Amino acid sequence: MKQRLLGTTKVGSIGLGCMGMSHAYGTSNEQENLSVLNCALEMGCNFWDTADFYGEGENEKLLSKALKGNREEVFLCTKVGNVFDRTLTSHQDQVQKQVDWIVDGSPDYINKCIDKSLQRLGVDYIDLYYLHRVDPLIPVEESIGAMADLVKRGKVRYLGLSEASADTIRRAVAVHPITALQSEYSLWTRDIEDRVIPLCRELGITIVPFAPLGRGYLTGKITKKNDLAQDDWRRKFPRFQDDNIEKNKKIVKALEEISALYKVTPAQIALAWLLEQEEHLIPIPGTRHIKYLEENLSASQISLSEENLSILNAYKNEIAGERFPINMSKLVDR
Ligand SMILES: NC(=O)c1ccc[n+]([C@@H]2O[C@H](COP(=O)([O-])OP(=O)(O)OC[C@H]3O[C@@H](n4cnc5c(N)ncnc54)[C@H](OP(=O)(O)O)[C@@H]3O)[C@@H](O)[C@H]2O)c1
Repeated sequence: MKQRLLGTTKVGSIGLGCMGMSHAYGTSNEQENLSVLNCALEMGCNFWDTADFYGEGENEKLLSKALKGNREEVFLCTKVGNVFDRTLTSHQDQVQKQVDWIVDGSPDYINKCIDKSLQRLGVDYIDLYYLHRVDPLIPVEESIGAMADLVKRGKVRYLGLSEASADTIRRAVAVHPITALQSEYSLWTRDIEDRVIPLCRELGITIVPFAPLGRGYLTGKITKKNDLAQDDWRRKFPRFQDDNIEKNKKIVKALEEISALYKVTPAQIALAWLLEQEEHLIPIPGTRHIKYLEENLSASQISLSEENLSILNAYKNEIAGERFPINMSKLVDR
């Protein structure tokens, strides 16, 4: 597997998003998930992404099983700051709860969470610790100050931000170096291109695109809302409503046409397009299937022609539907 630089460390050029194994995308099978994690290790896919929020700690516990005896092989990333909103109690609120959370970036909260993450993961340190969302009520300097203290105490090696604006990134780096910025970035979500990516380039911050396959849509496998399980969070996302699924099919069609030329899959073309965007960029596609894992990792071998890149780039402003439901979009730092 090709390597890329994350700060000063070399990691596999395509990582593994582990969220869907315990969270948001319906039920899954632990044995199959462990097989995917073990296969990732064998294939040199060592940049693993989780968060204390995923499955309320269950995802970190799952990873601990694959990390036993393999800690040094993995560049382990987790996140802090997203909290399920416990004030939701009625049935309707519980249903709504699937996408409702609050953000806590206070030093007290961060200090409480780190030890719980270390314990659940069964490790002594975390390689990359992200602030999952910027807390609108706490100056980012305070959140990063607390996280910087964890670096001094040896609990964490590097710090990252997720979905942070350019202004916030500048304020954060004044407190402590930021090694990675994890934000949604793919052929159908290109918001970070105008200000955030140029700033990260200037500051030497690696971009970690989450949902690089458009939460599965860009693979061509989701053709209607009812393809998603009843408990799948995506059912609440504007782009997974049938009218927008239909309107956005033109980008999937373009991916399918190009993938036929290269004798690969649309998912591989979507990842190859991302890898072409920046040198210091490591996507983290999520999967619970070995077949998809193998497919995704081999996307690093594809080199797209200028002509095909420009065909795909033409859809930049053509995407229908917001990327988040309104309550989740309020938590994005702008
Ligand atoms: N920082 C944040 O706020 C944030 C937010 C969202 C996600 N993330 C991170 O980013 C990671 C990736 O994002 P994501 O999982 O939301 O979206 P994604 O990687 O864009 O898409 C994942 C979906 O695509 C499917 N898939 C994967 N490879 C495929 C292939 N080759 N062919 C067909 N289908 C394929 C998966 O199916 P199966 O699972 O059934 O295999 C899953 O439904 C997450 O796991 C998480 O670690 C971070």
